[in-house]
Amino acid sequence: MSIVTNKELLDRAKKGSYAVAAFNTNNLEYTQAILWAAAELQAPVIVEAAKSEVDYMDGHVFVAMISALAAKLSIPVGIHLDHGPSYEEAVRCLAYGFKSVMYDGSALPLEENIANTRKVVEAAHACGVSVEGEVGVIGQAEDSPEGKKNDLIGIANPDECERFVKETRVDCFAAAIGNAHGLYKRKPALRFDILAEIERRTGIPLVLHGGTGIPEEDLRKAITMGVSKINFSTVMRKGGIETLTATLHANPGELDLMKLLAPSRDKMIEIAKQHIIMCMSDHKV
Ligand code: 13P
Repeated sequence: MSIVTNKELLDRAKKGSYAVAAFNTNNLEYTQAILWAAAELQAPVIVEAAKSEVDYMDGHVFVAMISALAAKLSIPVGIHLDHGPSYEEAVRCLAYGFKSVMYDGSALPLEENIANTRKVVEAAHACGVSVEGEVGVIGQAEDSPEGKKNDLIGIANPDECERFVKETRVDCFAAAIGNAHGLYKRKPALRFDILAEIERRTGIPLVLHGGTGIPEEDLRKAITMGVSKINFSTVMRKGGIETLTATLHANPGELDLMKLLAPSRDKMIEIAKQHIIMCMSDHKV
């Protein structure tokens, strides 16, 4: 079908009480897995890449690859920069043709995060591109808040979220609610009380990062409370790499890269489908 903005995808998801699954990617097979899984389930989907992934693939190639693959499918697809580190990087992605960019100024003082995010919003909106912001640092699972003494570490402050949304005019934002990127050491303790307060004060679609390892019932609860986009990365890479390792061991000396990569792609299709179903976005086209 078509490449659309995240705003379009997320506004529909919020109304329909589901979340759009967003998967990071950095090569062809991985991208095919994401798009083919979504097409099979007739689900809207977001393909995203962090700066290192954009650089690895080349931003123009990334957008051209997704556009060419999506043109053959009957689902709406978003192309998104994940955790954009600067205004300059966001603008570069506008030039590549991304339909959504994230600016992550969450590690900065709030004033600076607001000022930088607003600048990105002004540039992106002038190009018809949507923007995701972040409030409260979402760290790595190794440093996740559970287990730490101060349970407010890594938790967004609802007052700051309200101000951030009003002053930046972002289309959606990620708030830290006890989630983290990577492999959780134990079940994450999501702060649903904070999520409820943030949703009440802001009203715009919310994004949940660190989707890998969050139990399905928690994902679904978060969706009913206003989360409209959920990011998954580690779970796909882990499944793909484990399958590649097993394929290499089972086929020593194999020199056909396609034969080695295809089983990984099949595994990633299976994982992407499971996570799309958890997001309740299947058959929402
Ligand atoms: P995971 O790797 O934990 O799934 O997190 C992905 C993510 O939030 C990307 O921004």
